[in-house]
Amino acid sequence: MRTPLIAGNWKMNLTVPEGVALAEQIRQRFGVQEDVEVAVCPAFTALYSVGQALRGSTIKLGAQNVFWKEKGAYTGHIAPAMLSSLHCEYVILGHSETRGRFGQSEIEAELLGYFSETNASLKKKLEAILPYGLRPVLCVGETLAERESQKTDAVIQQQLSETLQAMEPDELRDLVVAYEPVWAIGTGQVCEADEANRVCGLIRSTLAHMHHTELSEVVRVLYGGSVKASNANSLLKQPEIDGALVGGASLDPEEFLQIIHAARTRKG
Ligand code: 13P
Repeated sequence: MRTPLIAGNWKMNLTVPEGVALAEQIRQRFGVQEDVEVAVCPAFTALYSVGQALRGSTIKLGAQNVFWKEKGAYTGHIAPAMLSSLHCEYVILGHSETRGRFGQSEIEAELLGYFSETNASLKKKLEAILPYGLRPVLCVGETLAERESQKTDAVIQQQLSETLQAMEPDELRDLVVAYEPVWAIGTGQVCEADEANRVCGLIRSTLAHMHHTELSEVVRVLYGGSVKASNANSLLKQPEIDGALVGGASLDPEEFLQIIHAARTRKG
């Protein structure tokens, strides 16, 4: 039985004091619960302080990105060892915003210059974090144009195969995959629960095909994209959906706690 994971991606929000205050509220109200795992992913600047605020609790800390090099002249980048020294447990990889997609199939050169993450660079990041015990939350998902031209399944299979190729099942035991349709992120337009369940099932069967059935049964597959307290129940009760990667609603403790509650009661 896979323990559901609810992860809050705070994106580029909250100063250090604001992040600490939010972490303290979530901590106080979450208490200690073992039937659901909870993580928060603040901006790099708040990782240390939020980590301190969560010390002694079961709430995990995650980062929103990482660079694959160990150290060196890479201004503005963060190495895996830096995250593990802050007791980070998760690292989001390949978010559509760091892939530079922003809901578009054709990406403006100006944005690509800033982001331009590819399946190949993600593979390097994935391989770089595993020796540090950091657990990847690998995001996959199609743009609206790809969905409308019936390319959803092919896009997701390609993202998975190019990123995870030639890796051993043992290396991927801690992998979490998040299905985040680009068109559903920050738009309020949530993917229908049945369809989200279908794509999460496709992710699992792709992993089984590429690696091993046993691995595909332990890997958690989350849904992300406009998850809120009001739609969490219908999404989280789907058999292939093992939790949620929550953006905007994770900044509101009330909403976030209700989503956590939906994960805890999903089989009830
Ligand atoms: P929203 O929940 O704001 O749509 O963001 C989802 C997301 O991108 C989580 O990583």
